[in-house]
Amino acid sequence: METDFENRIISPDELPDELDSDNPLRPSKLEDYIGQEKVKQNLSVFIEAAKIRKESLDHVLLYGPPGLGKTTLSMIIANELGVNIKITSGPAIEKPGDLAAMLTNLNPGDVLFIDEIHRLSRSVEEILYPAMEDFSIDIVTGKGQMATSYHLPLPKFTLVGATTRAGQLTAPLRDRFGVILRLEMYTPEQLSKIVMRSAKILGIPIDTDGALEIASRSRGTPRIANRMLKRVRDFAQVMNDGKIDYQSAKTALDRLEVDELGLDSNDRRLLEAMINFYNGGPVGLETLAAAIGEEAVTIEDVYEPYLMQIGFLSRTPRGRCVTKSAYLHMGIKFPGTENEQITFENKNK
Ligand code: ADE
Repeated sequence: METDFENRIISPDELPDELDSDNPLRPSKLEDYIGQEKVKQNLSVFIEAAKIRKESLDHVLLYGPPGLGKTTLSMIIANELGVNIKITSGPAIEKPGDLAAMLTNLNPGDVLFIDEIHRLSRSVEEILYPAMEDFSIDIVTGKGQMATSYHLPLPKFTLVGATTRAGQLTAPLRDRFGVILRLEMYTPEQLSKIVMRSAKILGIPIDTDGALEIASRSRGTPRIANRMLKRVRDFAQVMNDGKIDYQSAKTALDRLEVDELGLDSNDRRLLEAMINFYNGGPVGLETLAAAIGEEAVTIEDVYEPYLMQIGFLSRTPRGRCVTKSAYLHMGIKFPGTENEQITFENKNK
């Protein structure tokens, strides 16, 4: 059974109604962007420096789990530079000609944002190398003896690439980014600030305890927090005059079957499978994927980052393991292999 992501409130992927680039919840300036402090500090220096030198910003690679604001950041970069942005994604660029058309339509200094850049085809990626390095492309038209090659100069632009998997980028592509930034999952405190900000924009009455309750169940991901805010508002409207406080948030999220740590039935199914079928691990990724009927990449990109962040799962050379705290959370007695008991005792010495 594959997960129905459309209906998964805690999916970090964008849902169709969240796609629009004029989503009012997206901050448009760096100073309104909450969290990712290191990324913001570095970016603001690079942006200022490019502006002072009146040059285009160096190409930027953003990587990290889905839903953390990579698209939002790319829009902020363009806005702070005072240039236009063109948004596309790896799978959407089918042919080299598609990319060539986009590149030749840019104005000097513009930002080209390519989401899921690890999914570019090889032939498209090869156009990107000279475009990034020398701001030019070579286009071949016609076939055989009729083939003609054109060398086209491009305006100096900034490529912002985003990926959930930096490891899957080819070395030649990765090496052409001057700035590589990793986005981290957000803390509940940062997420509750984002929830308060979004509630204000949407005109939803909320108190800090209500915001923190939503934040704690949002798996470190603003996109999930904002989505939960809208669902909790529905419950609050019916139950609590529309006011979101701790109690109405808790009731709503319990009804949505998202637990105190943000785990839903899919996460629990994964942990249960590891515990019941493989004694908590180690179990190989592919074996686990087959056991729960999910794709290995879904497990790696969607489930595991958060489960590792909260210390429920570890990746070891021999496979994935469930930790003692995950057993506790699931209400299952921790069997504790000899090794784990020794480490645990050592820890307490
Ligand atoms: N909305 C989504 N992500 C955000 C962030 N990092 N800061 C402020 N608002 C947001």
